[in-house]
Amino acid sequence: MGRPASAVTGSRLDVARIREDFPILDQTVDGRPLVYLDSAASSQKPLQVIDAIRTYYLRDHANVHRGVHELARRATEAYEDSRARVARWVNAADAHEIVWTRGTSEALNLVAFSIGQARVGHGDEIIVSAMEHHSNLVPWQLLAERNGAKLRFVELTDAGRLDLDQLRDMLGARTRVVALPHVSNALGTINPVREIGRLVRGRSDAVLVLDGAQGAPHLAVDVQSLGCDFYAFSGHKMCGPTGMGALWGNRQLLEEMPPYQGGGEMIEHVYRDHSTWAEVPHKFEAGTPNIAGAVGMAAAADYLDGVDRAAIHEHEKSLTRRAISLLADVEGLRIFGPGALEERAGVVPFVIDGTSAQDVATILDAQGIAVRAGHHCAQLVVDRFQVSATTRASFYLYNTVEEVEQLAEGVRTARNVLLG
Ligand code: ALA
Repeated sequence: MGRPASAVTGSRLDVARIREDFPILDQTVDGRPLVYLDSAASSQKPLQVIDAIRTYYLRDHANVHRGVHELARRATEAYEDSRARVARWVNAADAHEIVWTRGTSEALNLVAFSIGQARVGHGDEIIVSAMEHHSNLVPWQLLAERNGAKLRFVELTDAGRLDLDQLRDMLGARTRVVALPHVSNALGTINPVREIGRLVRGRSDAVLVLDGAQGAPHLAVDVQSLGCDFYAFSGHKMCGPTGMGALWGNRQLLEEMPPYQGGGEMIEHVYRDHSTWAEVPHKFEAGTPNIAGAVGMAAAADYLDGVDRAAIHEHEKSLTRRAISLLADVEGLRIFGPGALEERAGVVPFVIDGTSAQDVATILDAQGIAVRAGHHCAQLVVDRFQVSATTRASFYLYNTVEEVEQLAEGVRTARNVLLG
């Protein structure tokens, strides 16, 4: 599966070495070197992941779980071995606790639909927060509407944290589901999920669902110690392919939940008027799956482990520290999210008063710097802070301090162009 990814000297990442694995970064945009600071939207892919997918298609592809021939055996083995590797990567007790999905959004839709059928009735309560990505809000809105349940919101403090006192007061006998982000894509806040798990367990029988889209790529996740029942994450934000994700679920709940979609692969036996279901997790995987996606996602997990996830997190923290200190010097610039670096991931959202976030991003783009501007699919967050949009820089293992300095310089240029 290509060269080893190991790229840590002492506890520091050898970023120059890592960048050799990401040829896409070595290009110019309008004559300027590309500075890619949009990994929260989608990360880039190392050669090791691209090679794993290519090798699978070159050598091993067929449909899974069906054929008796050699290629079908190999494809099935690749698919199930990838599941086992991703299960180990999040420290799941059993590979059967990993359901492959198209991404975090599908994983969260699956839980909302299925646990909703099994456990949420009229007048029951579902707790979400004002920090949600729309993927962890809209599926619960749909469920609440379908089943006559009530949606309640944990609000945000001025520092962009969840108000846990409010959560504590909300939890009760009617709470069926608590669904929260591990890490906020719009603020960078790392939520204290273990503490939240203890709160939820201590005060309710609710199921705790974590949106791990921004957590799994950046933090070493151990689903057995987080205290949650479901953890959803995406391949494309962790150096893997798009259209691929996973849901880790508590085995007992997965057994209890009805299927989410019907079709081939997910059945045990089909009669004229009803069907019986395959074992977990196949009960939730209707149709021919994204086999190459699973192979790529497992290769990405291996790659990040090969580099060292703790060192990646430390590297992102040092980039964030540098970005915050440089951007704080720009007149009229406000940064959102917690001040303490321990509480934030490598996501730096900001506005420059008197300018539009989109204009700032466009001027950065003209300098080869890729960032995202908008509400980041988290409209409640920008509403909370009374802005229509933010410009967001987000960092990953392949970003350098020099790139952060270019960002700050680019932001100063944008400010001067827009405000004179
Ligand atoms: N959820 C992705 C983001 O935060 C798309 O940009």
